[in-house]
Formats: sequence, structure tokens, C-alpha cells
Amino acid sequence: MKVINVIGLGYIGLPTSLMFATHGYRVRGVDINEKLVELLKSGGATFEEKGLLDLYKKALTKKISFATEIQSGDTYIIAVPTPYDEESKKIDTKYIKAAVESVLKVCQNNTFLIIESTISPGTIDKHIRPLVSEYEKKRKIRIHISHCPERIIPGNMVYELVHNSRTIGVDRIEVGEEIKILYKSFCQAEMVITSIKVAEITKVVENTFRDVNIAFANELAQIAHSAEIDVYEIIKIANMHPRVKILQPGPGVGGHCLPVDPWFLVGDFPNQTPLIKQARLVNDSMPSYVIERVTEIAFKFDIPFSRIGLYGISYKENVDDYRQSPTLQILNLKNNSFARDVKVFDPFIQKNLFQNQYFDFQNFLDDIDIIVVMQAHNHLLENQDSLKEKIIFDTKATLIKSENIYHF
Ligand SMILES: NC(=O)c1ccc[n+]([C@@H]2O[C@H](COP(=O)([O-])OP(=O)(O)OC[C@H]3O[C@@H](n4cnc5c(N)ncnc54)[C@H](O)[C@@H]3O)[C@@H](O)[C@H]2O)c1
Repeated sequence: MKVINVIGLGYIGLPTSLMFATHGYRVRGVDINEKLVELLKSGGATFEEKGLLDLYKKALTKKISFATEIQSGDTYIIAVPTPYDEESKKIDTKYIKAAVESVLKVCQNNTFLIIESTISPGTIDKHIRPLVSEYEKKRKIRIHISHCPERIIPGNMVYELVHNSRTIGVDRIEVGEEIKILYKSFCQAEMVITSIKVAEITKVVENTFRDVNIAFANELAQIAHSAEIDVYEIIKIANMHPRVKILQPGPGVGGHCLPVDPWFLVGDFPNQTPLIKQARLVNDSMPSYVIERVTEIAFKFDIPFSRIGLYGISYKENVDDYRQSPTLQILNLKNNSFARDVKVFDPFIQKNLFQNQYFDFQNFLDDIDIIVVMQAHNHLLENQDSLKEKIIFDTKATLIKSENIYHF
């Protein structure tokens, strides 16, 4: 049975490992985070995700193991973080280089090195290939580099692993065909084999497209508010045009992809990206715009910030991933009295992250007069009866009905 080594067992690496383990491969999952590996070994789920626990239980009965040390093998999938450098806006390659180097030290001849992490265009040529060449010479081995970026979204990962089409970026088509066989074990969608450079830029372009289009909707929300027109009505009517598809505005964008990947293009192509940069700035300004709008409402009703509650910490509905979420962006605003005093609750987050965080919904409601809907968790709709006495500022246009409701 072929062994696949997955390096990095986070939101991407873990579901991918479980998929391979339940579709005919032996999997060795590796992560430098000892606590995470211990938890996985003891059968604990590391994050909430629809269908993940079932897959995990199934995988445990198959051939899957978890460790902190990389072992010798011939197939490696890298799924480690790829943040950007705040100053230069370029990709920070420290995690990916470290992961690749640890593989190069132990891998066998003719190893398939598959990079799933999102990387900026040219990263493999600039940062990975020189490292690979060095070890190929030193250890007299041959490595087949490829880039197979992941497109799955938290909340629907298991389904999307099976049904999303994939891009396979390679130097040689034969390598692409071999990699296709691996992914075909669980992926039912189309797979396109292309060059590494095209695979790199395509992934970043996909996320940039979304970021720019969300920024347009967010800017439109601000225009509409200034003009005292309902933005949702504008979008609904405009979208009846056969070639118009405006997205919905929101309190900002979060996660590990949209607030990060467009910066790769800005960092590498500063003269060609004024639109992409501006879109990033618009989306990053939305949490402050939320504060502005809530402050207007609070002044109108003479309500102090300490009686305002943010509902939702995660960056997407019905998931527990809160990385770079708009709520986090608000609460991290230093020296901001709103951020200091406001209360916060998320039914998906059990970890204590903030001073004014609640873990019981009723206690949260008892202590606030204004609820700011930052995330459209199903939980809120299910409990909308308990919002009757509250003033609501709904940044997500949920279906909540109330006389005291404000929208963008
Ligand atoms: N999360 C998403 O929705 C998503 C979607 C598509 C693509 N991606 C991309 O996938 C990549 C991984 O993202 P993620 O969300 O899974 O990140 P994550 O932070 O959830 O997981 C990454 C894991 O890698 C581990 N790690 C770091 N360095 C390591 C090393 N040298 N050896 C072994 N393990 C190491 C970390 O401990 C961590 O557990 C990123 O490039 C991201 O942009 C993420």
C-alpha cells in the first residue's frame, strides 16, 4: 500500500490526510505542534467541521498515524501556513521552506513533493527549487516538485474535497498524471494539469477576485447608506441584469486566504495592482465602519458601549475558525473605547479569547441592549425569539425580523 506523508495537520492537512486514509492509502500525518499531534493520537478532533469527525473515526480504523517527526518516504504533501510579511506584503516563506527542508533531509529517490499551501507566483522557482536542487546534488536523489493548491472552504470541506476541481502544476506532464491518480482516489471533479507558475498565480487570482468583488459590495453599502437607499434592494435589482452579479456586503473579510493572498500580488507587482490594493484596504476598513455605524445607533438611543454585544467571532457562518475575523479585527483595535467595552459571544467558540467574552447566550443577552450581528450562524436564527427586546444591527442581512433592526 502506498504511503502518503502529509506535513502540516491544520484546516487543510488534516481533512486531506483523512481523505487519503479512507481511500486506499496509508497516511503518516506530521505536525510540529506536539499538543495537536497528541490530541490527534488520542482520538480528539482539533476543529469543528461538518463530516470531519465521521471521516476521522473511519480513518482511525484504517492505516493512519500522527507524529511530530518526518519519516523517509516518496510522497509528501505540504500544507503549512503561508502568511505575508506586513511590511513588504510579500509571502513569508519561513514555514514552507522549513517544511520542504525537513522533507529533503529524509526523502527517497524519485520523491513526489506536492505543495498544497497557497504560494505567491514564482515562489517555487525563487525559494523552493534552489533548496531542492541543493539536496538533489548533495544526496544524489531526484525530486518531482509540484503545486496543487487547495480550494476547500471551512464549513463544507469534506464535500468540497470530493467535488471541487483541482489544479495540478508540474514541470512534466507524466508527473502530473501520477499525481492525478493520487487525488482521483477521492476527488470526483475535473483536474487540470498545467505549469507550476500558472498553478501558483491561478490560486492567488481566485481569492483576489473574491476579495475585489466583496470590496465593491462593501463600498456600495457605504454609498447607499450616505444616499439613504437600501443597498440590498440595489443589489437585488442590479443582479437581475443578465451580466451583473454583485456580492453581499459584510463587516469585513477574515480567514487564512482572502485577507492574505491578494497581498502577495500587491507585494510582488506594486505598480500593477492599485485596484487590488484598494480593495484590500476597503475590506480592512469595514470593521471600523461597523464601529462607526453602531456608534450612531448607540448615540441615538443613549446606550453605552458596555451594553453592546458582538454576536459571532468566527470569520464564516457555522464554523469555529476565527483567524483574522472582522470581530477579531475590531477587538484588537488598541486604544478604542468601543473595542474595550463591547461584549462578545459566539456559540462555536469555547476558548476564552477576550475579557468580555460570554459562553452562555442568555447571559450575553441579559447584559446587552444592542446586538451586532457579525456572523450569520444558524444558531441566531434558531434563537431569534430571544432578540425581541433588543436593538439589532445586522451586518450579514440574515433573515431575522424585528421592528428594531438596522442594516448596512
Ligand atoms: N484554511 C483554509 O480554508 C485554506 C483554504 C485553501 C488553502 N489554504 C492554504 O493552505 C495552507 C495551510 O493552511 P491551514 O489553514 O491548514 O493552516 P493551519 O495553520 O490550520 O495549519 C498548518 C499546520 O502546519 C503546521 N506546521 C507549520 N510548520 C510546519 C513544519 N515545518 N512541519 C510540520 N508542520 C508544520 C502547524 O503547526 C499547523 O498545525 C496555507 O497556505 C493556506 O493559505 C487554506
